[in-house]
Amino acid sequence: MKLKNIVKELEIKKSENNKRELKIIDETGLNLSSNDYLGIGQDKNLRVEFLKKFGDKILFSSSSSRLITGNYKEVRELEEELDKIYKKSSLVVNSGFSANKTIIQTFYNKNSLIITDRLNHASIYDGILSSGAKIVRYKHLNIKSLEESLEKYSKIYEDILVVTESVYSMDGDIAPLEKIVKLKEKYLFDLMVDEAHSYGVYGYGIAYEKKLVKDIDFLIIPLGKGGGSVGAYIICSKEHKDYLLNFGREIIYTTFLPSANILWNLYILKNMDRFKERRKKLEDLKNFTKEKIKELNINAICESQIIALIIGDNKRADVICKNLRDKNYIVYPIKSPTVPKGSERIRVGLNPNISKKDISNFLEEFKNEFNSIF
Ligand SMILES: Cc1ncc(COP(=O)(O)O)c(C=O)c1O
Repeated sequence: MKLKNIVKELEIKKSENNKRELKIIDETGLNLSSNDYLGIGQDKNLRVEFLKKFGDKILFSSSSSRLITGNYKEVRELEEELDKIYKKSSLVVNSGFSANKTIIQTFYNKNSLIITDRLNHASIYDGILSSGAKIVRYKHLNIKSLEESLEKYSKIYEDILVVTESVYSMDGDIAPLEKIVKLKEKYLFDLMVDEAHSYGVYGYGIAYEKKLVKDIDFLIIPLGKGGGSVGAYIICSKEHKDYLLNFGREIIYTTFLPSANILWNLYILKNMDRFKERRKKLEDLKNFTKEKIKELNINAICESQIIALIIGDNKRADVICKNLRDKNYIVYPIKSPTVPKGSERIRVGLNPNISKKDISNFLEEFKNEFNSIF
C-alpha cells in the first residue's frame, strides 16, 4: 500500500470521527471499561500470594515454540488439570484470537461451510476468510434462523461448522447453547463455542455449568477477561489436539507463553472455587444496575455483567464519554461500524470492586449528560 493512500484512509477515518488512538488509562478514575470481570487481573493481594509461592520459578520467556523446547513441565501440569476438569483433551495457546483463527483455518477449507452468528468476533471471521470456506451468517442468537440455514445447507455440505460465543462482547447477551446443541441430533455439524466473556464469571464457563462440554467440538476459553490473564484454552478431542499440533500454523510457528503466565493460569484454575464470593457480588451488582437503569429509564441492554448504554450516534457518544471522563469515569464510546449504526454506546464491564454507590452515581451522571445533549 502506498504511503499516500495510507494517509488518505487515515484522514477519512478522522473526518468520520472514527480514528482509533492509543491512550494511557488514568488509574485514579473509576474504570468501567475493563473486562477484568472478577477483579483477578488487578488483585494485588492475589499477585503477591502467587509471587511468594512461585516467584523463584517463573520465567518471562519460553524462548521457543511448543514443538521445539517451549513445552515445559508446567504446561503439562496445566493441561492435565484442564483434562481432568473438562474430561476432554486440552491445548493451551497464545491467545483467543489465535485459537479461533487457527481452528477454523486448520480444519475447514473451500469444501466446508461455516454457519456463524452475525455478531461473532473478528477472529472467527478472520479464520473463515483464511480457510476459504463458504460463510453463512444467521441472525444474532436466533435459533430459527440457524435452523433454517442448517436445513438448507446440510443437504449440500458434508462439512459444516456452527460457531457461537456464549456471552456476547458488545450486548452482553447470552446464546441458547442447549438449543444449539440439541440441533446436533437432527443435523450433522461441528460446534465451536467461544467463552471469552463467561470464563470466571460462570466458573469454568457456561458450557461446563450446563454440562454441554462433551457436545461441543471446539470449546475456546480466552483468558484475557474474567480469567485475569492472557492466552487461551482449546478443549477438544485428542485427535483434534494432535492434528492442531501437526497442522495448526499459529501454534507451530510461534514462541509459546512463558511459565510466568502458565503458572498464573494454573493458579487461577485451581483457585476457581475461591472466587465464588466475587461471582456472587458481581451477580448482585448486575441486578442492582439493572434496577437502577429501569428506574432512570435509560435505554440499555443488561443481560449479563456487560451493560450497553445506548446513545445511537458516534459524535454524541464521543461527547458524552469525554464529559464523563472529565468527571473521573473511565468510559469510551463504542462506535459504528464496530456496532450497528444507531446503536453506538458506552459499554460498561462490571466487576465486584465497583460499589453500588459508584454505579448509581455514574448512571445518574450518564442520564444527565444524555439528556443535555439530546
Ligand atoms: C469473543 C472473543 N473471542 C476472542 C477474543 C480474543 O481473545 P484474546 O484477547 O485472547 O486474543 C476476544 C477479545 O479479545 C473476544 O471478545
